[in-house]
Amino acid sequence: MNIAHRPAAHDAALLHVTGRALYLDDIPSPGTALHLAFGCSTIAHGTIASLDLSKVLSTDGVLKVLTASDLPFANDVSPSGDGEPLLADGSVNFHGQPIFIVVAASHLAARRAARLADISYRRLPPILSIDDALTASSRIEEPLVYGRGNAAGAIADAPRRVSGSISIGGQEHFYLEGQAAMAVPQEDGSMLVHSSTQHPSEIQHKVADTIGKPMNFVRVEVRRMGGGFGGKESQANAIACACAAAALATSRPCRMRLDRDDDFITTGKRHDARIEYEAGFDSEGRLAGVEFRQHIRCGWSRDLSPPVADRAMLHADNVYHIPEIRIASERLRTNTQSATAFRGFGGPQGMLGIERVLDHVAHKLRADPAEIRRRNFYAPADGSEHQRTFYGMPVEDCVIGDITDELLESCDYHQRRRDIRDWNSRNRYLKKGLAFSPVKFGISFTLTHLNQAGALVHVYRDGSIHLNHGGTEMGQGLFVKVAQVAAQEFGQPLEAVKITATDTGKVPNTSATAASSGSDLNGMAVRNACREIVGRLTRHIASQHQVEASAVAFQNGRFEVGSESYSFTEVVESGHLNRVSLSATGFYATPKVAWDRIAGKGRPFFYFAYGAAVSEVVIDTLTGENRILRADILHETGKSLNPAVDIGQIEGGYVQGAGWLTTEELVWDDTGRLMTHAPSTYKIPACSDRPPVFNVSLWDRSENREDTIYRSKAVGEPPLMLAISVLAALSDAVAACGDGTVYPDLDAPATPERILAAVRRQTVG
Ligand code: MTE
Ligand code: MOS
Repeated sequence: MNIAHRPAAHDAALLHVTGRALYLDDIPSPGTALHLAFGCSTIAHGTIASLDLSKVLSTDGVLKVLTASDLPFANDVSPSGDGEPLLADGSVNFHGQPIFIVVAASHLAARRAARLADISYRRLPPILSIDDALTASSRIEEPLVYGRGNAAGAIADAPRRVSGSISIGGQEHFYLEGQAAMAVPQEDGSMLVHSSTQHPSEIQHKVADTIGKPMNFVRVEVRRMGGGFGGKESQANAIACACAAAALATSRPCRMRLDRDDDFITTGKRHDARIEYEAGFDSEGRLAGVEFRQHIRCGWSRDLSPPVADRAMLHADNVYHIPEIRIASERLRTNTQSATAFRGFGGPQGMLGIERVLDHVAHKLRADPAEIRRRNFYAPADGSEHQRTFYGMPVEDCVIGDITDELLESCDYHQRRRDIRDWNSRNRYLKKGLAFSPVKFGISFTLTHLNQAGALVHVYRDGSIHLNHGGTEMGQGLFVKVAQVAAQEFGQPLEAVKITATDTGKVPNTSATAASSGSDLNGMAVRNACREIVGRLTRHIASQHQVEASAVAFQNGRFEVGSESYSFTEVVESGHLNRVSLSATGFYATPKVAWDRIAGKGRPFFYFAYGAAVSEVVIDTLTGENRILRADILHETGKSLNPAVDIGQIEGGYVQGAGWLTTEELVWDDTGRLMTHAPSTYKIPACSDRPPVFNVSLWDRSENREDTIYRSKAVGEPPLMLAISVLAALSDAVAACGDGTVYPDLDAPATPERILAAVRRQTVG
């Protein structure tokens, strides 16, 4: 029986499509519940001169207003302990920063009243752009440099060189369910918190600090999120702590959900960045040395920016062996929302740097960009002596060459390139472009201690199974994958496994569900818990038959001993009657990882996940409008735990990445106010933006060489970066407008305006 690798439907698929899945805001309000809204700063930088809340307080339905000075305990929602106040404490640091909490009888009353404060500020000039921050030396931490060899020397000695820079926009998570929480006071000062969070243990920690109690007074429950994408890794803290603070102040349940505009304005997004590069190479396009300066705009607080910026550095090589390389990383503090985790966690920005370099090299050599890329790939996995990354990790599992061969062949890349050249020569106003891009993404949290997980499994005496683990479900299919593991271990049908809400009272001290490692970590922890129970039942049967445990076999859900065979349910019942515990915890810690982030040396990742894409686009050279016509993807997920879920993650990741690089544009005005804060001005991809031809396959020769859960590989984040092929294809289409001498230099997002400007640069020359 093999349940583990089956394309089982998402456990909540039916509930999702019928609208019966319960999200946080669907949890019925306890009768006395109150509703909250933040009153926010309307300037980007300054200090609060006076704060008059009388109009807020006299609004119908308003019960209470809390400011920083009304918080009796911690006023800190920082995930890194750097001091990030829940409510502005004198100074304000971005337009939209929460200053006070309105507590009201209804959601609407709270929101209306939140706008009625009279606040006067002493204004300071805001630091907004990367250049502002560089000029002001405004940083969240000192710059970091990683590398190998003498990159500058290698570049100087190389026969050919390119240099340039790429600006990369941020991205709003646009999870369909906005940030939300509810805190319900219990007896003796305890607090039950429902939160739409990827990180229940951190909510527990932050709420405990907010109410001045140890962590065992707080229980956090998460059934599911309507999307997280990294945006609920740290950014859920403020909403949950606001609810807890108000619940403490009123002794009543308090709930809060951010409307879309408020979510845009107050919470963090993907880091935008500017990457400057210089590369030296030979006439074949082989890189000799590369230098990157990565400028990462972190917003006003530290949040998760250090590990995000580290991951950008760690993906500056992507799939390429670069003999000498230097990466300098500036982590810049600006008076904008605190940039945070977003699918790929800095990796996409770093990878875009090297993909731009290779594209530029190919353009300079007038060579096929796929071929130039291939020449620089890390050596394949077969050698005994493996090439190493610049941070010293051996690349032992490199399959990108094989994936590339198979993909270019199956999508007919070379013929289509010729066809497109031909088509472009016949079409004056429309131009097509085609591009290939590969992905190698490191799997593990770079903060080594986060690579651990726990599980709690109960078997009830009727043989039914209650499953719990530390991971959270945000639509990615973690729960069904982990349920498949439990069903597989017990040899029971998937329906025998009851998936239950994540709960800090059941599994403690968990890491965020992030870094794509949810199924790797929690799958293993669940497997270990199940094996513990199976072991006890095996010993029970053995003792009943007076044989060694090794004489009992458990397979396909049956215990076999001698000529006897018992069903799982029979043994469970007899185990219970013989006082065998049918409940177990499981624990897992990822082996092999060790990382020194300051030195930039070690093994930050357990393994890498690989994939590649070819995208075809068309642009209108008169308007800059554009469309993806076709995408072909080959991606590896090891021995997939669930091919249906994995294909969904790949499709969704690619489309989300394409949105980031094309239509999704965040615009702040020069006072630091975010102008794009609703779907009317911020355009995420719709279903109709999927490529009309969309061929997505799992690479079937893949098996994780590391001992992961059933040899599968993580899939959550890596496919987002397959969309780099879209930007490269747009660049290819723009280049078709010129004579081949001007490199298109397309920044991201490649909006119609940017494409039009790039076309003009080709033709005006
Ligand atoms: N897929 C859906 N549908 N919704 C999400 O919020 N988040 C992504 C990815 N895929 C996300 C998603 C991110 S940022 C991560 S880190 C992983 O899922 C987390 O889940 P996993 O570790 O179980 O893959
Ligand atoms: Mo994902 S950005 O690691 O939550």
